[in-house]
Amino acid sequence: MKWIKVSSYEEMSKVACSIFVKQLQHKSNSVLGFATGGSPVGFYKEIVKSYQAGEISFDHVRSFNLDEYIGIPSNSPASYYSYMVENFFQHVNISKENYHLPDGNAIDLKEECVRYDKSIEESGGIDLQLLGIGVNGHIAFNEPGTSFASLTNIVNLTESTRIENARYFENIADVPTQAITMGIQSIMNTKKIVLTAFGDKKVAAIDQLYSGKITEDYPASQLLMHPNLTVIYGSEG
Ligand code: GLP
Repeated sequence: MKWIKVSSYEEMSKVACSIFVKQLQHKSNSVLGFATGGSPVGFYKEIVKSYQAGEISFDHVRSFNLDEYIGIPSNSPASYYSYMVENFFQHVNISKENYHLPDGNAIDLKEECVRYDKSIEESGGIDLQLLGIGVNGHIAFNEPGTSFASLTNIVNLTESTRIENARYFENIADVPTQAITMGIQSIMNTKKIVLTAFGDKKVAAIDQLYSGKITEDYPASQLLMHPNLTVIYGSEG
């Protein structure tokens, strides 16, 4: 496990990007795991710059995102699909068949969860996974109390997560109440994990992780059992 303390959001984004660049230079057909939210926006900017500078290519890359809301159209600006296209996919040479997000509009959502884990498995598994962390310690949309054995599944979002994510919607009532998310076990199955957290709001979440106590009340704590975890963190204060 590696803890890297940074002094700015920009530095966090650059350090995370450099790990992905190294991964792609070492294995051009890597399977990458992507995250959404505020934390990775700077990371995507950096990785697009590396692509534009000719340091990396996404020609042979396949990717899987952690999660997606249930019940909003994928072309809605608030969907994670739109976020990924806007912040990343449209700027690099990754082809549409090679990037994947869970389908929050699938007719059979349970079946979609099984299909998603299966397609990750068939890809050979995720080589490198990017993660953010929620203020309550959630990873992807695995809220406190989630079983560490969970695979991709349908979850009810907590009120605090809906309030946090309301900034992407016109008002809180528009924030979906459910999502499809890779489970804790699906995340633990990835070969390498980079967790990013920056800002005063995330200090308590990182302190809790650093304390080393592993409990299902704090989903991120299971990551301490992962054989290849890097935490890139910092705050203004
Ligand atoms: C959402 C996402 C998570 C993300 C978390 C933190 O709930 N599903 O994957 O890590 O928010 O987001 P932010 O980086 O905006 O604080």
